[in-house]
Amino acid sequence: MKIAVLKETRFGETRVAASPETVKKFVGLGATVAVQAGAGEHARFSDVDYREAGAEISPSAADAAQSADLVIKVQRPSTEEMRVFGNGAKLAAILSPFNEPESVEAYARLGVDALAMDFMPRITRAQSMDVLSSQSNLAGYKAVIDASAYFGKAMPMMMTAAGTIAPAKVFVMGAGVAGLQAIATARRLGAVVSATDVRFAAKEQVESLGATFVTVDEEAMKEAETDGGYAKEMSEDFQKRQAEFVAEHIKKQDMVITTALIPGLPAPKLVNEDMVRSMSAGSVIVDLAAEQGGNVALTQPGDAIETDGVTILGFNNVPGRLAADASSLLARNFYNFISAFWDNEKSDFVVDWDDEIFKGITLTRGGEVVHDAFKTADRAPEPGPAEAVEEPETAELELDTPDDPENA
Ligand code: NAI
Repeated sequence: MKIAVLKETRFGETRVAASPETVKKFVGLGATVAVQAGAGEHARFSDVDYREAGAEISPSAADAAQSADLVIKVQRPSTEEMRVFGNGAKLAAILSPFNEPESVEAYARLGVDALAMDFMPRITRAQSMDVLSSQSNLAGYKAVIDASAYFGKAMPMMMTAAGTIAPAKVFVMGAGVAGLQAIATARRLGAVVSATDVRFAAKEQVESLGATFVTVDEEAMKEAETDGGYAKEMSEDFQKRQAEFVAEHIKKQDMVITTALIPGLPAPKLVNEDMVRSMSAGSVIVDLAAEQGGNVALTQPGDAIETDGVTILGFNNVPGRLAADASSLLARNFYNFISAFWDNEKSDFVVDWDDEIFKGITLTRGGEVVHDAFKTADRAPEPGPAEAVEEPETAELELDTPDDPENA
């Protein structure tokens, strides 16, 4: 069983799908691991670290992927990259197939069995394999750290001999994995935090973190959650009342962190231009949904902008701004997934296509498109937590890395 770990080619992608820690564990299981040279460079994992963990270092993607049974990657590969996999190889990555449905046909055409890690079912058994959760946690944390870097004031209340500084007011919209981590981080920094969500289950979670939960209609919220734990699109009436409420609340906030997503649909627009302009100069908005179309009307995906004194951060790939931790967690998600289907006697990754996990994540198999959402032209949006909005082309996908002086 050979596992190939490729260097990411998408512009701005800093993460890698395996760490020296997980390479060592794969080798311990009896796998051969080939890591493309330089694959971990942005995540602070050197080729020497990987080699010491037991990997072979391959000079090119083609060398690493040659005769590989399983290729693991962070991002969806380009068609050119896919040509280096052997016919019949399995590919596991964050494939975001709703962003590029044609990619699914390409996997089938090239004989790649494509496994979308971002379609992992939200069941207890798969929690440790859930790449969206691990990355959202880091994004929620980093959103608050980024906001505080652009905010020209302190966050906690400070009582000094020269007088008292009021604590910052932070409003988090969308209290899923990223939102809850943003709440916890803002609270740790001493802010006064409020949050909203459309799912009723979020209320208790928000309150347990010491934040205030604000909503327009608790009854409507009880209907808003799918069996998979995701949000449904809300009625027009709810959205209108939510907007009126948000307009009043937002005026008094110093920071707004938006994280609201609905699987397979563009991000709901929650903050319009008037709301942005109603905030005081010096306030900061972080739109974590920027790559999915944004929750905020003025967001520029991939950029930080200022309008009427209000800064709006729409950075792409926020987990990638913490590349080492994001890669370590992703690598463990991959390891937990692969080792759960490992046959120790055969020293092999043995797929059970009837398992709920494989039913959820398999897009193509044996040259056929097998996932219900992509089998026909009418692609249902519901089955997975993918994003529905076009991604910029590789060359345009811009990431503000921590090394970027404009983004310090
Ligand atoms: P997500 O990233 O799809 O969405 C983020 C948040 O935005 C969600 O809480 C959603 O309800 C909210 N939202 C959508 N429309 C909104 C609107 N108009 N206004 C305000 N908020 C809106 O969701 P995420 O964070 O990936 O997960 C949601 C929930 O799924 C988690 O809180 C958790 O309960 C559950 N979960 C279960 C897992 C498991 O069992 N394996 C793993 C991870 C999450």
